[in-house]
Amino acid sequence: MSNALDTLIPQADDGSVVLAQLSDPHLFAERDNVFLGINPYNSLRAVVEQMRGEAGVDAVLATGDLSQDHSVESYQRFAELVEPLAKPVFSLPGNHDQAELMHAALAPTHVHVQRRVQIGAWQVLMLNSAVTGLPAGHVMLEELRWLQQVLAEDQATPTLIALHHHPVPTGCAWLDQHSLDNGAEFLALLARYPNVKGVVFGHVHQEMDQFSHHIRLMAVPSTSIQFLPRSAGFVLDPRQPGYRLLRLCPDGSIETQVKRLIGGQFVPDPSASGY
Ligand SMILES: [Fe+2]
Repeated sequence: MSNALDTLIPQADDGSVVLAQLSDPHLFAERDNVFLGINPYNSLRAVVEQMRGEAGVDAVLATGDLSQDHSVESYQRFAELVEPLAKPVFSLPGNHDQAELMHAALAPTHVHVQRRVQIGAWQVLMLNSAVTGLPAGHVMLEELRWLQQVLAEDQATPTLIALHHHPVPTGCAWLDQHSLDNGAEFLALLARYPNVKGVVFGHVHQEMDQFSHHIRLMAVPSTSIQFLPRSAGFVLDPRQPGYRLLRLCPDGSIETQVKRLIGGQFVPDPSASGY
C-alpha cells in the first residue's frame, strides 16, 4: 500500500476537520511485554477501541515514541493496532524511535510518514525533533529552513504543527532536561506567522494546554504510562492512558479536549524509578 497521502477531504458539512492525537505507545516486538507495570500493546488497543466510538474523526496523528525496543516488529504492532480505526494515520518519530528504521518498517503499512498534509481548510506540518542517542529534542537547521519556507509561501492557510518534544517547560524538572533544546527559537519563528494556530506534541506523557504568543501549545497523555505533573523527579501517575481530540474549524479556531480510558484497568508499577 502507498505510504503517501497529502490531501484529505473532511467529513463535516461545515468544513471542519477532526483529528485524534495519540502519542508515546512505547510498543515492543512482543505483544505480552510489560512496560513499568503496563502492557503497552493492550493499553493502545484499549485507546483505539474507545477512539473508534468518537464521532467524525477524519485522521489520526501519532506523535512519536511508537517503539520502545527499536524493532521492526514494534512498528508492525503499531500498524496492526491502529488499523481498526479505518482512518488515515500520520506519524512522526520520537526520541525512542529511529527515524530511518521507523520509516522503513512503516512503508509497507497503511501508516503515513510524510511531512505535510492538507486537510480541508488546514494544513498539518509534521516535524522530526528526535536526535539520535539523546532524550532531548532539537529541530535541525534543515527542518527549520523547510518550515520557514513553507510558512513564508503560504501565510493564509490555518496551520497545525506536530512534533514529539515539548517546546516549553512542563514544570517537571527531570523532564525539562529533555525538552526541545531550541524551543525558544522554534516558537519565535512560528510567532511571525498568524496562520500558525497550534502545536501538538507528546513526550511529556501528560496533558498540557497553554499559549505562546497567539499559538496554542498542546500535549497529550501517553497511550501507555503517565508521568506525574509538577514532579521534580521521575514519578508515574496512576491516571489512565488517553488521547486528544482536535476540531480544526475553517475560521482557524481550534476546539480540543483530552479523553482518558474509562475505568482504572491500567495500573503502573508504583516502585518504578525511571525508564
Ligand atoms: Fe515517550
